Amino acid sequence: MHESLLIYRNMRYLKISLVLVLVTGLLYVFHSPVGSPNGGTWLGYTLGTLAAGIMVWLSWFGIRKRSFGGPAMRMEDWASAHIYLGLALVVVSTFHSGFQFGINIHTLLYFLMMFVVLSGVVGLYFYIRFPKMLAENRAGLTTDIMLTQISELDRELSDFSLTVDDETAKAVYEAVHNTKIGGNLINQLTLYVADCPTMAARIFVEQSDGVCDESTRRKLLTRLTKKEGLLSRIRKDVKLRCLLQLWLYIHVPFTFATLAALVAHIVVVFYYW
Ligand code: HEM
Ligand code: HEM
Repeated sequence: MHESLLIYRNMRYLKISLVLVLVTGLLYVFHSPVGSPNGGTWLGYTLGTLAAGIMVWLSWFGIRKRSFGGPAMRMEDWASAHIYLGLALVVVSTFHSGFQFGINIHTLLYFLMMFVVLSGVVGLYFYIRFPKMLAENRAGLTTDIMLTQISELDRELSDFSLTVDDETAKAVYEAVHNTKIGGNLINQLTLYVADCPTMAARIFVEQSDGVCDESTRRKLLTRLTKKEGLLSRIRKDVKLRCLLQLWLYIHVPFTFATLAALVAHIVVVFYYW
């Protein structure tokens, strides 16, 4: 879906954005203000107003995404235009500033906005790459099917552990009852779980040659290895979804911070006018 947004409607929004960038660039080059170019010339005000308009429109996307019906513009149009106008904003706002940067609220606004754009590019990469990665990782299984397989394996592991020595039974018990998926943010983002009881039990059974009868040992080992494989798939699934969620927690709050800085910028500019 997001890959196709880049070429949506024959790249209409890329073309519109390129025209916008080109016109802005030409105006900037042929504009000859008194003194050096800055946000306070007629062109500066024009580009500043345009940049602010684009900013507000891009921010509106979150509300538009969650409201059904509404204006005729389709969701795909919004999303495709969001990407390309977001990138064009970099050029429009830079020419608006006349490259006058310093340690002040105006430059803070500029860098906050750049950060939102940059995070947008990262998010777009996630949205394009992750569906494929999620599908490959699941290998045709759904999370529900994987969880059902795990509980089936757990049932078998519990049955087999009835006939083994105490230490092996304890390791298997831990694997069945204390294996965790998800948890806090770090757990969700970590694929390798160092103290995973299933991994510990698999290693224990692997190394406990001759402690219990060989046929049971092999049965335990096969099931523990299979469970480990399923766990690693589910954990990867959780990690990818978590990264997408985390990305929104960066893109959206920084959008609000940028809007607040924009208001401050406009107030300061008119206050000192
Ligand atoms: C996303 C939108 C905007 C961004 C990123 C932005 C950014 C900047 C930056 C970095 C400067 C240079 C500051 C300096 O000279 O030290 C500047 C200057 C200025 N901006 Fe904006 N601006 C935006 C929108 C606006 C709007 C909507 C207005 C007014 C309607 C505006 C009015 C001005 C003025 C008058 C200056 C010149 C200030 C001066 O020379 O002291 N800007 N802007
Ligand atoms: C200053 C510029 C930008 C602002 C203010 C902005 C703001 C937003 C907002 C408010 C959302 C809605 C999030 C939600 O609530 O679900 C959003 C989504 C998104 N933005 Fe941006 N954005 C900007 C630039 C960009 C750029 C340059 C890109 C990509 C190159 C981008 C890519 C995305 C993507 C992929 C989504 C999620 C779309 C979806 O869920 O289908 N953004 N953005």
